[in-house]
Amino acid sequence: MPSLSTLPVVVAALFGPPLLACGDDIADDGDSTGAATGGSLDPLSMPSEPTLTPSDFNSARDCEQCHPDHVAEWELSRHAYAMTDPVFRALVEIRQSDLDGVEDQFCTSCHSSICTRGGECIPGFSFESLSPIALEGITCEACHKVQEVVRPYNSGHLIDGTAALGGNIKDPTRNAYHESKYDALFDSSEFCAGCHDVLETNGLNLERPYAEWLESAAPAAGKTCQSCHMPTYEGVAALGAPTRTDLHRHRFLGVELPRIPEILSDPALAATLNAEIDTLLQTAASMALTVPEQVTAGRQLDLVITVRNEIGAHAFPTGSTNLRQVWIEVTATNGEGTVLYETGKLDANGDLGNVWSTIEPHSDPDLLLLSSTLIDAVGQPTLYSWNASEHRTGSISPGHDRTFTLFVPVPEGTTGEIQIEAVVHFRTYPPHLIAKLGLTDTMGDALVVRDVTTASATVQVVASGAMHEE
Ligand code: HEC
Ligand code: HEC
Ligand code: HEC
Ligand code: HEC
Ligand code: HEC
Repeated sequence: MPSLSTLPVVVAALFGPPLLACGDDIADDGDSTGAATGGSLDPLSMPSEPTLTPSDFNSARDCEQCHPDHVAEWELSRHAYAMTDPVFRALVEIRQSDLDGVEDQFCTSCHSSICTRGGECIPGFSFESLSPIALEGITCEACHKVQEVVRPYNSGHLIDGTAALGGNIKDPTRNAYHESKYDALFDSSEFCAGCHDVLETNGLNLERPYAEWLESAAPAAGKTCQSCHMPTYEGVAALGAPTRTDLHRHRFLGVELPRIPEILSDPALAATLNAEIDTLLQTAASMALTVPEQVTAGRQLDLVITVRNEIGAHAFPTGSTNLRQVWIEVTATNGEGTVLYETGKLDANGDLGNVWSTIEPHSDPDLLLLSSTLIDAVGQPTLYSWNASEHRTGSISPGHDRTFTLFVPVPEGTTGEIQIEAVVHFRTYPPHLIAKLGLTDTMGDALVVRDVTTASATVQVVASGAMHEE
């Protein structure tokens, strides 16, 4: 029975089940990621004594003479930027001061395993004092010297700094610079899982694209992370080497551009790369609106919104969903263009009207969020994973859809048609986070709101008494 209330209310739950419930099996693997014991939280990824020698690792610069295309693509990827990203640095520094030196090297354990295992990223480290190879983040050899994935999360790779370079070429042409080695691991999602599934040191699941992938139809269909994020092309793997048809793009296209001078100072390049991100995002989801054919003035319109995850290989959104913002903007207007109802609008600071808006009152009770929220021990939202004890997500599982119902008030006297427009939006960071980190001046231009998918509907309004009641 439809409610007679004229106030719009959301009946669908804003949040899905907590992430923890799904990831219990990941957490129970028997590794000691939980206890905060200071220097040696984890012998593999955060050893108390160095287990790697940073000088064993070559810079991406050293590969350029033979692998110019791989280097040029990697340079435009987020992997190259994992230790210099201003948001990463700001968060790490807050964590360092919050936890007073304990667990300082956790964040760098994936963003630079060479730094963390090499004894440079130690409790109390500062980014200014790190060596160039540590600052190269996820550089070529951080991946290509991986021997094994010991666990599919939290920097679960076994790395050997003196090993031959592993890859997917079965018959690598010999070269004077390095030994090559075929290893099927590089063609598997498990390889990416070692870094892409993230568990806070308190056991909280932060990111789990690989766990999501395992639960999806993608493994059976032979679709790996590489299928979408490292598409194949024909060319030469190294200058002078034979032509191959199964080389892999090293752009690792995702949702964000690195903030490097090459991109920032080249609007044409930035536009091309931004268009690629938009294209990827537009494959992520579809949306349908279900509305009655007509509505009686003075009553309310039940608007059902269905968003479907079209990726099929991991949740939408996935990864750093607590940093990202994904939401549905809905506007209903009458024939004269007067807004009858809206949700998902930005306030004067560019923020959504929820608890994080600094403009009182937070005015968007219906806000439909697909990204996630960290909750602390007293039930309050927090921006910092190390203060969180719960991770509530609005993500849609692969192969699934989610339905939301909104009630649009239709005042007496409304005539003509009601036009409804809905957009699923994505942005990498909300302005309130960037402001809190003191980065508004340097990053304000990065907070682009992207459209993932749109839908619209029209409903005929009939005068009260004119519509035939059921
Ligand atoms: C287990 C590996 C791992 C650990 C540990 C880790 N991260 Fe990450 N981090 C990732 C991966 C993988 C991504 C990319 C996910 C994405 O873009 O959705 C990422 C992305 C990020 C981003 C977003 C960068 C961007 O592209 O906008 C920030 C900021 C960040 N991490 C901060 C942190 C902080 C702070 C910590 C410590 C609390 C941390 N990370 C610990 C693996 C890790
Ligand atoms: C995040 C991990 C990662 C980083 C960083 C990385 N690679 Fe790769 N690379 C891979 C994977 C995975 C494959 C194989 C993909 C597959 O088989 O599906 C690969 C394949 C290759 C190949 C074989 C030819 C091809 O394209 O398939 C070469 C050569 C190569 N990488 C060179 C480099 C160089 C040079 C750099 C640094 C500029 C680099 N890689 C950075 C993961 C990485
Ligand atoms: C002197 C030239 C040269 C330099 C310098 C060089 N490589 Fe290579 N590399 C090659 C050649 C040649 C191949 C084989 C390509 C083929 O057969 O298609 C190769 C193959 C590879 C493979 C694939 C191995 C396999 O079996 O799948 C990887 C990965 C790789 N190189 C990474 C790197 C990295 C990382 C660097 C820099 C640290 C680097 N290379 C520097 C010439 C070079
Ligand atoms: C069928 C293609 C496909 C496959 C397979 C796939 N992805 Fe994605 N991925 C996407 C699309 C589309 C997006 C953009 C929408 C989103 O963020 O969810 C994306 C986004 C991402 C992001 C950025 C998320 C963010 O908002 O910061 C990460 C990280 C990622 N994928 C990692 C992975 C990993 C790891 C795997 C393998 C376990 C994988 N992907 C497999 C299509 C794919
Ligand atoms: C050594 C750890 C590590 C490995 C291995 C790794 N990644 Fe990443 N990846 C990261 C981190 C950390 C980031 C975020 C860097 C940043 O933005 O600060 C990232 C970012 C990304 C992004 C960009 C997401 C965005 O926000 O735009 C994509 C896509 C991605 N990785 C795909 C892959 C795939 C596919 C593989 C496996 C072939 C892989 N990664 C292997 C650590 C890793």
